[in-house]
Amino acid sequence: MQQQTWNSDRRRTAIGRAALSVPARQALADRQLTSDRTILDYGCGRGDDVRALERLECNVVGWDPYYRSETRAEPSAVVLLTYVLNVIEDPTERRETLKRAWELAGTVLIVSARLTWEKSKVRGEVFGDGLLTSRQTFQHLFGASELRSYVEEVTGARVVSSAPGIVYAFKDDAARLSYLAHRITPDAEWLTSEDTASAITALVDYVERRGRLPRVDEMPRATAELLAHLKPGEVRRLVHDTADAGKIAEGGKRSTLNTLLYLAVELFNGRGPFNSLPASMQLDVRAFFTSYKEACQRADRLLLKLRDNGYVRGAMNASAVGKMTPTALYVHQRAVDLMPTVLRLYEHCASIAAGRPQEWTVVKLKHQGRSVSWLNYPNFDKDPHPRVESSYMVDLQSLETSHLSYANSTSRPLLHRKHEFLAPDDPDVPRYRRLTESELKADLYANPHLIGTENGWESELARCGRTLRGHRLVRRPTD
Ligand SMILES: C[S@@+](CC[C@H](N)C(=O)[O-])C[C@H]1O[C@@H](n2cnc3c(N)ncnc32)[C@H](O)[C@@H]1O
Repeated sequence: MQQQTWNSDRRRTAIGRAALSVPARQALADRQLTSDRTILDYGCGRGDDVRALERLECNVVGWDPYYRSETRAEPSAVVLLTYVLNVIEDPTERRETLKRAWELAGTVLIVSARLTWEKSKVRGEVFGDGLLTSRQTFQHLFGASELRSYVEEVTGARVVSSAPGIVYAFKDDAARLSYLAHRITPDAEWLTSEDTASAITALVDYVERRGRLPRVDEMPRATAELLAHLKPGEVRRLVHDTADAGKIAEGGKRSTLNTLLYLAVELFNGRGPFNSLPASMQLDVRAFFTSYKEACQRADRLLLKLRDNGYVRGAMNASAVGKMTPTALYVHQRAVDLMPTVLRLYEHCASIAAGRPQEWTVVKLKHQGRSVSWLNYPNFDKDPHPRVESSYMVDLQSLETSHLSYANSTSRPLLHRKHEFLAPDDPDVPRYRRLTESELKADLYANPHLIGTENGWESELARCGRTLRGHRLVRRPTD
């Protein structure tokens, strides 16, 4: 074991992990830790992430100055720097460590750090730009946007926040653009194909949803093989004769808007050349726009519209989904893709700047100023009046973030009229609407200033002699 002359006892910061760390899980979900990429866990501590990733058949090596100094930190496609920067008390060494990790990364560097919202969990004396705990361990807690701009500054790369406290610095523009594309339009799902007839059905379904024919390399292998004996002209005729023209037009409209959204997000994060876009995006641009230039100009106008209060407010009023209040629009996660494109852009820009939390149910977009909050209501579907558990807010102008936990609150804020957060055709809407109607009839919404928190709502239920049984309002039994 290497002897270090550190001013804090850094090895003590490495904990044993029973499960994969949050950043590694996030990177797996974001398809950054694939089996074709080499992975280096730089500052791997006791190596539990390395072992868990090995079990997932990843090609991974761990290096740590204390626990694994005998392995060599070799250049790798992906470098993980998980909760290392926090524990380095010397700012020059902290920066050097980040630089070294960046030098070793071929495709992407994944940096995670503990955030200021954990302040209450870390006690100690002020030491440099952090705290020295009684166990002699050091912690510099980062602000979410501080982490992103720090990594951007040291690496000189364009950085995307994946989740709060987890950022990706890409060395390879194509990898960055493909990641952004995946965030906006997850890969199209294909129906399974077992014979030529089902392969044709799958193809027609794709064309109706995407609004254009796929290229062979966009198809699942089995479908491509089953259709290989057909000539391109035959395929076009088959699709023309079978597919629903109205659905293709709708699919085309959706793909046009998704492409615009993608290009606007890309501009927000730094635009690359056409040939660095993922192949499917290039095909969408060719199919739905006269040129890349025209597509970019429209996307730029969309990004400009984000600054226009009147336009944004108009889009919120016109939105087919969401609950509009005097300050903001609230939309359930299941309905966000149905918001007008400028509002989807609003949410995406905030998530790239500060990271979208792993757990959230409802997003709140303010119409004055620009701030996005992701609110977590873990029991949204079960609880007739879901109680908020936490919220994470980013101000798009200052890039300040804040996190609120209601875990210790004795009277949490709760929701009413749940159906308003969802798309009108959501299967749960009729049940939720029936409950709202019966609550209205029972006079439960007479005092809006009282019903927004658990205690106030309970007292209003008592005043009206009612109680809830699941999503049914019933008379309260008399004692
Ligand atoms: C909080 S632990 C994180 C360990 C591991 N990445 C995890 O998440 O389980 C911090 C680790 O950083 C390592 N470390 C300290 N200084 C470092 C440096 N300059 N370069 C790389 N790693 C360092 C420590 O040895 C320690 O194992």
